[in-house]
Amino acid sequence: MTEEKKVGFVAMTSEKKAVENIPEIGIGMIGHSFMGKAHSNGWKQMPYIFWPPAAIPKLVKICGIPESEVAEAARRFGFQSYTTNWKEVIEDDRVSIVDSCTPNNMHAETSIAAAKAGKNIVCEKPLARNASEAKTMRDAVKKYNVKNICNYNYRMVPAIALAKNLITEGKLGRIFHFRARYLQEWIIDPAFPMIWRLKKEVCGSGALGDLGAHIIDLGRFLCGEFKTVSAVSQTFIKERYNPETKKNEKVDVDDAIAAAVEFENGAIGTIEASRFAAGRKNQNIIEINAEKGSIWWDLENLNNLNVFWREEKPIETQGFHCISVTESHHPYYSYWWPHGHIIGWENTFVHTALNMINAVMENKPLEPYVATFEDGYRNAVICDAIIKSAENGRKELCIFE
Ligand SMILES: NC(=O)c1ccc[n+]([C@@H]2O[C@H](COP(=O)([O-])OP(=O)(O)OC[C@H]3O[C@@H](n4cnc5c(N)ncnc54)[C@H](O)[C@@H]3O)[C@@H](O)[C@H]2O)c1
Repeated sequence: MTEEKKVGFVAMTSEKKAVENIPEIGIGMIGHSFMGKAHSNGWKQMPYIFWPPAAIPKLVKICGIPESEVAEAARRFGFQSYTTNWKEVIEDDRVSIVDSCTPNNMHAETSIAAAKAGKNIVCEKPLARNASEAKTMRDAVKKYNVKNICNYNYRMVPAIALAKNLITEGKLGRIFHFRARYLQEWIIDPAFPMIWRLKKEVCGSGALGDLGAHIIDLGRFLCGEFKTVSAVSQTFIKERYNPETKKNEKVDVDDAIAAAVEFENGAIGTIEASRFAAGRKNQNIIEINAEKGSIWWDLENLNNLNVFWREEKPIETQGFHCISVTESHHPYYSYWWPHGHIIGWENTFVHTALNMINAVMENKPLEPYVATFEDGYRNAVICDAIIKSAENGRKELCIFE
């Protein structure tokens, strides 16, 4: 008997399979640090929560540098083997899904090689350092016809998936405003050293690609395609000491950006990203104001979606409702805990694993509930337009190919 359960957008087939008949699928990971840890946890937790899964992820090989650290990570995360040469991950016949958790300058080379080898790919965001590099990746996954995710993981927060459903079902009506800010504080100290996230050659952009790209993705996901951007940016601390080279080095990316944006459907919005917002640890807030009401959401309280309905009666008690998006009828949640038993940031990576495995094993669609390389490319076009607008002081069109 096959029971279809709605998991976000992806309907999960929970055909009762004998445990011994569930196939395994090999995962090869490139990068073992922050995202390597989050993704490994996602692959491991997925079958534990979403049982029975279409396949059980097998952690085959992990790559990173230096060797001593990746060896320890392999042992800690439960990978069968490790390497310091990323090509060995792709060449391993046991690997079906390549998961790229590296700095941004390695995304294109690793993803294109993986696509050529016929491997399915999860690549961290931003997809690449700029739109032309992202386009080569988008074109490669199309050409070699492999499943691909650009991991804009906030799409897979149940409250955000619920917001998407409300908008798609027309419950909010015409959208007027998208207002988003993604704020952190961790490089405000001038003594904070030079790292890869502050070098354009490695990361492409600063707060924009790191944080702004996430809210651009939520804007595209929830409100529609961007048409124009008008931006300002600033690099507050222009040099940082690099303990490796023992020199002060130039910071050639933005520390913060702010942009006014127009959507193709006529909605307007604002986007702000900064790593200089004292006191803000990881504040990612979005608000949408529409014809029939408004919604807002905050990552630091990610299980809740705040909703206001203009037509709600009686008018005396009208106001924003804080919905605990933890009911079994909510996206993704029927496989988690009883209602009110909340999930966290790390669980979005479980949903990445779930969606990728359902796509590979059962050809379940990824779009629109999961961002693909097409979304990663379009996001990069918008980021490039923001950089250009901040440089020339003019409104820039977002032109997609
Ligand atoms: N989705 C999210 O919420 C989120 C959050 C943080 C970071 N990211 C993205 O994830 C990616 C990785 O970020 P991170 O914070 O994990 O970075 P990190 O610096 O913590 O880790 C980078 C990893 O890449 C490996 N690496 C670097 N050069 C290598 C080489 N030549 N060969 C093999 N391995 C190499 C390192 O060993 C390390 O394990 C970035 O693209 C970043 O933008 C996404």
